[in-house]
Amino acid sequence: MCKLEVNIKSAQKNYPIFINNRDITSLHSDIAEFIGDKNYIVVISEKVYKLYVSALGFPKDKIFILKDGEKEKNIKNYTKILDFALKHHLTREDSIIAVGGGVVGDLAGFVSSTYMRGINYIQVPTTLLACTDSSVGGKTAINSVYGKNLVGSFYQPSAVFINVNFLKTLDERQFKSGLGEVVKYGFIEKSCLCNEELNLMNFLNENVENIFNRDILVLADLIKICIKLKIAVVNQDEKEKGLRKILNYGHTYGHALEKILNFRKFTHGECVVAGILFALDFAFKTGKIDKEYKFLCEDLISKFKFPDLPKFDKIRIINAMKSDKKAGSDYITFILPTDYAKVEAFKFQIDEISL
Ligand code: GLY
Repeated sequence: MCKLEVNIKSAQKNYPIFINNRDITSLHSDIAEFIGDKNYIVVISEKVYKLYVSALGFPKDKIFILKDGEKEKNIKNYTKILDFALKHHLTREDSIIAVGGGVVGDLAGFVSSTYMRGINYIQVPTTLLACTDSSVGGKTAINSVYGKNLVGSFYQPSAVFINVNFLKTLDERQFKSGLGEVVKYGFIEKSCLCNEELNLMNFLNENVENIFNRDILVLADLIKICIKLKIAVVNQDEKEKGLRKILNYGHTYGHALEKILNFRKFTHGECVVAGILFALDFAFKTGKIDKEYKFLCEDLISKFKFPDLPKFDKIRIINAMKSDKKAGSDYITFILPTDYAKVEAFKFQIDEISL
């Protein structure tokens, strides 16, 4: 078992992140030890419930099953979970346990941030994307008809329990989606200002096969590296006032693609990778990186065999980017590469953007 610690000094918030590869049955006692004799409910993804209900051993009456898919992160389910928590008489001393991917974590986290003005929540991420990114850092949200994650809060969990064995049964598409965020961390490492040199780009180049084969020890190391980088960023900038924006590398263009594609056909991670390829091209054209570094990054991306995404008309992409919650009225901010494993935020007027 490895224990990492988030420590947001400015807000006096700290919590542990446990990473292990023990049998999934061990999770129940680990969580029970953490919450003691307090009450709880579990919000769990339907897929994970079907595969692991007996291994997890939570009493059925405490379980709220959430169907899978981004569209479930909606206000109806938010209300249903609130009512479920009220029905179980949860108090502020109690916990909501989120078992699943980013959808479950974001939704259960948002419920937790508003239930009685804030209750503990525990993240048990079961997808590569949630293990390496969304379960840490306290971004919680639901979607609106106007867009993704438009209603939400920054609300940190009280603990994160990562068990790498969940990744053995993750479908290929979701696994790849997580790899999109993982590759992103490789390209932003030096800008995370982590006091440990982790060299994720090297790790990725050397472990492509092991990652594809889901070697559990390699995946545990990979998750540790990504989480250390995420912790470094969140500790310095919990609410995305500055540094945390670098975690959006590839996301401005990626979110636009997701929006145009109606969140179907391609996963979040696949769209982020398309966004990184766009950023590499844009940074090269605007003289921020040289050809060698662009090729180095493209070569690493090609090793993970992400699908080619369709090209869309410039006006459509720009309109979709303008509706992003991070865009201004007459400019769009892009995170662009500037050097080996370094990125920076740049603002561009609309007519300066070349697609
Ligand atoms: N997933 C980006 C962030 O947590 O800021």
